[in-house]
Amino acid sequence: MELLGVIGNPISHSLSPVMHNSAFQAIKKTAVYVPMLVQEDNLSQAIQGAKALGFTGINVTVPFKEKVIPFLTQMTDDARIVGSVNTILFQGQEIIGHTTDGAGFQQAMEMEVGINPVGKSFLVLGAGGAARAIAHQLSKQDCQVYLTNRTLDRAQRLASDLEATAIKKPIVIANQQQELAKAVQECQVIINTTSVGMEATKDQSPFPLDLLTQEHQVIDIIYNPAETLLLKTARELGCTVQNGVGMLVWQAVKAWEFWWGITPPVDVMYQALKNSLASQE
Ligand code: ATR
Repeated sequence: MELLGVIGNPISHSLSPVMHNSAFQAIKKTAVYVPMLVQEDNLSQAIQGAKALGFTGINVTVPFKEKVIPFLTQMTDDARIVGSVNTILFQGQEIIGHTTDGAGFQQAMEMEVGINPVGKSFLVLGAGGAARAIAHQLSKQDCQVYLTNRTLDRAQRLASDLEATAIKKPIVIANQQQELAKAVQECQVIINTTSVGMEATKDQSPFPLDLLTQEHQVIDIIYNPAETLLLKTARELGCTVQNGVGMLVWQAVKAWEFWWGITPPVDVMYQALKNSLASQE
């Protein structure tokens, strides 16, 4: 029996166990995936413990995606550039950190709304961990990324961190109507990575909604609620829209590829996730 799991704090809300375990059952893989609540002071022991217990790998979620880095022996280039790890592989004595958030985002975007980044312009709202992964993923390709954030110097830091690997240097936009309006005209795709629109702020938009036109494609990485105010407004305007369910599924798919080099039954993962979200409503 292979052991997998996810570490975080809190962890009981995590939808990863149901996604992975449903996929294991569907293909009769002898593996189990467990949620593991870890206190920050015990993070090093938790990782060493998982290694000692023979875990194949683990996922890492909030608030440990950056904090696990000192306890790794290797990191993939993507994880190093983004500065965040959501997937760990134990291989002999090695503890290898990787991030599948960016690749998962892109794959979801391609599969769900058919967007190929090449030649496009993207406005990324936010400059936190999720924004870093997404902006890095996009800027590795021949497309233009615009970044904006409530705290502008965080966006500036992200742009400069991506400079070495970006084909086109990301452009930072001040979070003001006039500047945003100009960037929005340039961009085909708008991506919300901020937490604005989640339950506590569900009546708010991360972005002036009057700037949207029906030509825009709008992606919100929030999956609960399934439709944020931003997405609802965009959908009613006639925009193509996508929520965060796809990214959640595809980052898990990419974790399987990292652990075993195989692709899980994606439909099973989607269904398990949708059932869990529906039962939470
Ligand atoms: P994650 O790792 O999930 O991306 P994070 O690092 O906490 O989470 O980042 C959250 C993002 O949402 C940030 O861009 C944050 O803006 P700041 O850098 O200014 O903090 C943004 N955010 C959170 N609450 C916000 C609000 N009320 N208005 C605008 N932006 C907000």
